[in-house]
Parts: sequence; C-alpha cells; structure tokens
Amino acid sequence: MLGNFTYENPTRLHFGENSLGFLKEELGHYGETVMVSYGGGSIKRTGLYDQVVAILKAAGKTVVEDGGVMPNPTVEKLYEGCRLAREHNVDLILAVGGGSVCDYAKGVAASTWLDGDPWETYYLNYKDPDPGLRILPVGCILTMVGTGSEMNGGSVITNHSQNLKIGKVFDSRLMPKFTILNPKLTFTVPQYQMVAGFFDIMSHLMEQYFSNEDDNTSDYLNEGLMRSLIHSSRIAVKNPQDYEARSNIMWTATWALNTLVGKGKSQDWMVHMIGQAIGAVTDATHGMTLAAVSIPYYKYIMHSGLHKFVRFAKNVWDINTDGKTDEQAAMEGIDALDAWMDEIGVAKKASDVGVTPDNIEKVADATILGGGFMQLTRDDVVEILKRAL
Ligand code: NZQ
Ligand code: ZN
Repeated sequence: MLGNFTYENPTRLHFGENSLGFLKEELGHYGETVMVSYGGGSIKRTGLYDQVVAILKAAGKTVVEDGGVMPNPTVEKLYEGCRLAREHNVDLILAVGGGSVCDYAKGVAASTWLDGDPWETYYLNYKDPDPGLRILPVGCILTMVGTGSEMNGGSVITNHSQNLKIGKVFDSRLMPKFTILNPKLTFTVPQYQMVAGFFDIMSHLMEQYFSNEDDNTSDYLNEGLMRSLIHSSRIAVKNPQDYEARSNIMWTATWALNTLVGKGKSQDWMVHMIGQAIGAVTDATHGMTLAAVSIPYYKYIMHSGLHKFVRFAKNVWDINTDGKTDEQAAMEGIDALDAWMDEIGVAKKASDVGVTPDNIEKVADATILGGGFMQLTRDDVVEILKRAL
C-alpha cells in the first residue's frame, strides 16, 4: 500500500429479505416531510410503493410524491426535484429504485438550497458544496443492483442539450445516511437490466484493478469480489430467482464501488468515460455501454500494463500461464472475460448501444480523457470506438 488515503463511509446498511423492517426505525431520525423519489413505475407494479407509503404513514410522515426519475436522470428532472423539495421544505429524500433514482436523490439533496446552478457548480466544475450549505439527508431502498450508488457519493446526471453525461463524486455528506438492501426486490428486474448491472459491477472492479503495479491489499480484495461475481452471475442468469446468487451479487456490487477497493492506488476510469459519452449521445443502458467497449479497450491498453493482465488471467480466471509468454497469458485473461460476457449475454458491440460511424466523433467529443496504464488521446478513443463497432 504505497498510497496515502483517508477512508470514511457513513452509510448504514440493512441487508437481507427482512431489511425493509428497519425503515421505521430509520425514519425516527428525520423530520416530518419525506419526499419519495422513484422511477418510471416499477415500484408501483411490484407493490413496493404501497408498502413504503404505509410505513411512512404509520410513522406519521407527510409524503411528497416525486416519481418519473428516468434511467440516466436528466438535468431538467434535477431542477424539477429541487423545486419540489424547496416548495415542501422536505426533511428527507427517500430514493426507492435503482442507481438512477439514488444518484438523482443525491443531486437534489445537494442542490435544493444551493444559491446557484447545480449543473454548472457540481457537474461542470466539480465543486463541493460549501460547508454552510443545507444538504438534505438521503435514504435509499435499492431495487436494482450495479452502480454502488447505495453506499457512495456518486451522482451521474445527463444533459442532452449539451451532449454530456457527467458523474460528480460528492463527499461523505452526500452518501446515503442509510440503505435498505433486500435482494428479493431485485427479482423483478428485467434480464437485460439485470445483466447490464452485472457488467457494471465487473467494470467498476476492473477499472480500479487495472492500474498500479505495487502489492496492494485492495487488489486482493478486488480479485475476491470479481471471482464471487463471476460465480454468482453464472447461477443468476440461469435462475434469476436464486436468492443466494442474487444476494451475493447485491453485496458485491456495494463493495465494488464504495471506494474500498480503490484505496491506496491509482485507478483507470476510461471505460466509464467512454461509456458515459455513449450514454450522453444515445441514452443507452449504462452497463451495456461499458460492455460494448471493454474488450477493444483492454486489448488496446494491455501492453502498457502487461503484468497486471497476466495476474488477472491467473487469479481471476484460473488460467494456467506456465510456458506462455506474458502477452499470451494476458490475452487468455481477456478472452476469458469475453467468453463470460457471452455467457451472461451483454452487448458486445458499440453498434448495439447506438454508436454508428456517423456519431463516433460526437461520442469522442463527449469523452472526458484520462487513463491509468495509458493516457488516451481523443484519436485513441475514436480508434477504440471504431474497433468496437
Ligand atoms: O424506472 P423504473 O420503472 O423503476 O424501472 C427501472 C429502469 O427502467 C428498472 N428497475 C429498477 N429496479 C427494478 C426495475 N424494474 C423492475 N423491477 C425492479 N426491481 O430498471 C431500469 C434501470 O434502472 P436504473 O436505476 O437506471 O439502473 P442502474 O441502477 O443501472 O442506474 C444507472 C444510472 O447510474 C449511473 C449511470 O450512469 C446511470 O445514470 N451510475 C452511477 C454510479 C454511482 N453513483 O457511483 C456509478 C455507475 O458507474 C453509474 O455511472
Ligand atoms: Zn458504472
């Protein structure tokens, strides 16, 4: 562990099929008015909405309705949520849904009482809320697994008119105060969204893994999480109702992006940067945008961090590297990842997520550059996207 870091994570988690029972106790910590934010209606269809509202009413709360948070929440919806929260002077935002709802709730929490434009302040300029700013507390009931938003400060907002999808990572003040993780709530997620979430988890893990060469505890933890995900995802795609597999995946997703496995090391978020740029242009499902570019991306940068790719092949995919060159061993690891992606059924081509020869330049323009093993240029991004088509 050669890096210096501070680790803090104030989110209280309640995990398991009885975890909704903790909502009542949590509500006791907050004032009377609770804004319930949710998505396009899945929670109404599953009956979760009625359950949550009944608990809120029994606890004497006034409920402010805030539905219609779309996947890849927009800046317009963010403004709307802030108006609503201000108008009702809400005391708690209860996000009931997937990463989109949870991300959006954090954006509203930081922006409701902000004197200024949140898009410009937080997302374009990455500023942190001033110490004196009133930040609304957020609680989360997670219904879809993947983003890690339930235990982190991330909030990704899309601005279609500016062709940008930007993630702001807020400090611990914006992390959910509590999150309820009931794996059974994820059973109704459609297969396409479910496997997109699985790949999102894998991508979070790989993007923290593929950088740095020093011996680092974070990487060992990461390998364990990747192995668990691969194992359970194989079970879950065949039987989405397998509680054991779905619960392991839910727990893995949380640890994959609550900053733990990235501690003490540099990270490489280029797959997310390209994926988010695709999302800004095509509004495709987040996890699928990552899947569509990952194999071409890793093949492109592999030579800049060959030893780590060999370790990935050995420790994550159990590949016997005896008698093989580093390059062969590294390629076998990427091929194993490729085969697993086929097994779970994620997008394998950029064209599957709306990229065309005509909008590649637009996607490249929307990509925030950076890198881990290799610093990418805009031309590199264009080349990777062409290979991904
Ligand atoms: O809107 P509803 O009707 O609820 O339907 C949703 C939505 O259509 C549906 N769904 C969720 N739970 C369900 C369900 N359908 C049936 N049963 C359930 N139990 O699934 C669809 C997708 O939901 P969404 O919340 O959009 O998915 P996800 O959790 O993947 O969130 C994606 C957003 O998170 C951002 C992404 O960029 C994207 O905007 N990310 C946030 C991160 C963070 N906070 O750290 C990091 C990630 O890398 C990611 O960028
Ligand atoms: Zn992601």
